[in-house]
Amino acid sequence: MRTRHDHSFTEPIGFDVRMNVIDAVGTRISIRQFTAEPVSDELLRGLVQDAGGAPSGGNVQPWRIYVVNGASMARLREFLPTQAPMDAPEYDIYPAGLVEPYRTNRFTIGEQMYATLGIPRDDKAGRSQQFAHNNNFFDAPAAIFCFIDRQMGLPQWSDLGMYLQTFMLLAVERGLGTCAQEYWSIRHAAISTFVDAPANEMIFCGVSIGHPDPTAAINTLKSERMPFDGFARFV
Ligand SMILES: Cc1cc2nc3c(=O)[nH]c(=O)nc-3n(C[C@H](O)[C@H](O)[C@H](O)COP(=O)(O)O)c2cc1C
Repeated sequence: MRTRHDHSFTEPIGFDVRMNVIDAVGTRISIRQFTAEPVSDELLRGLVQDAGGAPSGGNVQPWRIYVVNGASMARLREFLPTQAPMDAPEYDIYPAGLVEPYRTNRFTIGEQMYATLGIPRDDKAGRSQQFAHNNNFFDAPAAIFCFIDRQMGLPQWSDLGMYLQTFMLLAVERGLGTCAQEYWSIRHAAISTFVDAPANEMIFCGVSIGHPDPTAAINTLKSERMPFDGFARFV
């Protein structure tokens, strides 16, 4: 097995300067408008492979990744409208009755997103139009779908988060933008069919991938974070 110390990770393509981790953490934001510039299979393969350097309990590596790019993305865009527009999600995206401060955090980012786009509170059509943009991967040329074996439990689901953040930070290092999308959990049947996932696997989320559109207002949205005292304390 490849080790993480044998320098066999993919060399970033076209990016000589590697970022500091803190720069990648600070630079990564969810990109919700991509340009049409394609992303090579080679670059995607490297990203998917290198994100597998993420840790997981017992080194189980529970992530199962399906990559859609180029011709297969075009086929997926044709396929989606032929399928049910929405399924009951197989997991609760948020708990019912989300308590504070989580409820406010969630509410705030929603309001900030619509404010960035100039969509007022009562413009329900405008809001659902933006939501529907999820379905087109925000025009991204590529995406991955992250699945997990149904046997897995909470610890392995948390391992998926390890994988996804590693993936998204490496994408920043390589000049790409990403948006994780739980949205795809409400179209799980269509995606499972398209990627031909075995019945024992369920989808967690998709990640749209591409070059951020520098002219899009939505890409200026910088979400807030709670300060240390809001979520941590020394004991
Ligand atoms: C697992 C996961 C699923 C997400 N699903 C969606 C989604 O379906 N649609 C969307 O627009 N943003 C989605 N997001 C993006 C979050 O809204 C975003 O990460 C959060 O508001 C923080 O903003 P930032 O990513 O710009 O730092 C998702 C993020 C994560 C980590």
